[in-house]
Amino acid sequence: MTSTSLRRHKATGTLVVLGALLATGVGYAAVTSVAEASAPATAASATLVEEGRQLYLEGCATCHGLGAQGINDGSSYGPSLIGVGAAAVDFQVATGRMPLAAPANQAPRKPPVYTPEQIEALAAYVASLGPGPAIPTEDQYDSSDADLAEGGELFRTNCAQCHNAAGKGGALSEGRYAPTLMNATPKEIYEAMLTGPQNMPNFPDSTMPEEQKQAIIAFVEHLQSGDSPGGFALGSLGPVTEGVFIWTAGLGLLLAAAVWIGAKVR
Ligand code: HEC
Ligand code: HEC
Repeated sequence: MTSTSLRRHKATGTLVVLGALLATGVGYAAVTSVAEASAPATAASATLVEEGRQLYLEGCATCHGLGAQGINDGSSYGPSLIGVGAAAVDFQVATGRMPLAAPANQAPRKPPVYTPEQIEALAAYVASLGPGPAIPTEDQYDSSDADLAEGGELFRTNCAQCHNAAGKGGALSEGRYAPTLMNATPKEIYEAMLTGPQNMPNFPDSTMPEEQKQAIIAFVEHLQSGDSPGGFALGSLGPVTEGVFIWTAGLGLLLAAAVWIGAKVR
């Protein structure tokens, strides 16, 4: 090695070290600014959990316990909410089932008591207590590319025995019922399948993948739209309504005809 090449080599060495220092500095700055940028987000979710905890203590703890561990002491009852997940809270509170007003056989659907922001906070609080299904994203319950025919098939094998083939609901044992599906939003349908409220079995993604849930949602939306092939559905309640319809409409026509003939004769 000549002395010039050695000097050049030394200079390159210095440049490499400087470059590395510069890169570390820039990299460090980038990392810290990312960390700073994401810090408020973590702070916000901690606030959300705290806000949810407050709402929980005011509105839910009397039945579900101060730590959501559940209560069953004869005078009040509520199951444990540890591990039910954000999806169960979102479903129960957004459909107005919770807070339950009074002990009942079944929590009926009613207008929600909490705002969407409060529901988000309650869900965040319960989710912080233990792992459970998260609230599905819009992509998950988007049924626009779903297979309607497959959805019909899946609905008839998994849901119709309780909710009726037309999704109008039906009675179960002990005064309980499977409600009509005519008011459920795609998100609520997804959440119901994910969490299995009350007597309903749950259909986790491991046994019923997302794509099948979307097909079922597409089919329920189809039922809700009221498109029925082959004329009036008459509420899809079965042969009794159909019979009543024929009787009233048919008799009405006969009466009208009789009146018309009577008028002509006179
Ligand atoms: C008057 C008592 C009462 C109050 C108040 C109440 N709950 Fe409930 N909750 C119940 C009972 C009883 C059940 C089970 C009944 C059922 O599933 O129909 C239940 C079920 C639930 C479930 C379903 C659990 C599961 O395993 O899927 C969730 C989630 C829930 N409650 C959340 C809440 C939240 C959040 C609040 C407050 C906003 C609340 N509850 C207030 C009594 C109550
Ligand atoms: C064993 C009977 C049973 C089966 C099977 C069943 N459900 Fe349910 N479902 C119920 C009951 C009971 C409720 C009401 C729970 C409550 O009030 O807490 C319910 C509630 C729902 C709701 C909420 C409706 C609303 O307006 O709030 C939806 C949506 C739903 N089910 C969809 C389905 C779908 C989709 C399937 C098939 C994949 C299905 N269910 C299968 C019994 C059943």
